[in-house]
Amino acid sequence: MVRIAVLVSGGGTNLQALIDAQARGEINNGQIAAVISSSPTAYALERAAKANIPGYVVNRRDYADNRAMTAALAQQLQELDIGLVVLAGFMYVLTEELVHAYPNAIINIHPALIPSFCGEGYYGLHVHERALEYGVKVSGATVHFVSEECDGGPIILQKAVAVNEDDTPATLQRRIMEQAEWVLLPQAVSLFCEGRLSVEGRIVHIR
Ligand code: GRF
Repeated sequence: MVRIAVLVSGGGTNLQALIDAQARGEINNGQIAAVISSSPTAYALERAAKANIPGYVVNRRDYADNRAMTAALAQQLQELDIGLVVLAGFMYVLTEELVHAYPNAIINIHPALIPSFCGEGYYGLHVHERALEYGVKVSGATVHFVSEECDGGPIILQKAVAVNEDDTPATLQRRIMEQAEWVLLPQAVSLFCEGRLSVEGRIVHIR
């Protein structure tokens, strides 16, 4: 059984999708063992408590920089015997120490079709604002392994979502969550825990 830690900073709807998938028996060979929040007030911590999942806070304000916070996180993850780290709306870019501690064992969900609308500064509603400004007709979500390059790691799953003429950043964000993120993330987590993912360079093979 792979012990999974979900790292969050906010509302935690993707965490909820994982909790619901686990309750339906759809996370094969994995168990959400910890939710770690960068903020003590994140609603995601309440979702964890309701599901009887231990919640922890690693508060960015307690550390001088991202590197010091990452080191604390890495230590906590190792103490908890975590085998898969899931970034589900985690607002900080983690430094390479964590990537080295968990090679191809950190998964991120990004609300666009990478390599479009990703990288530094592309988070939250900004992603959808830029997609609408650009005039794309489809956007979507990407689940990928985390590498040292922001949003640049090997892609596990992607799903396209239509952009509507009257979309606002908020309506597009919501539709991408409903139609893509909440579906893809539990699938990718289960594939990882089942040992069905292998990585060759940039390419993820799914058995
Ligand atoms: C999602 O859009 C996810 O793709 C991005 O951050 C957002 C988190 O939302 N990385 P939530 O906290 O899961 O509701």
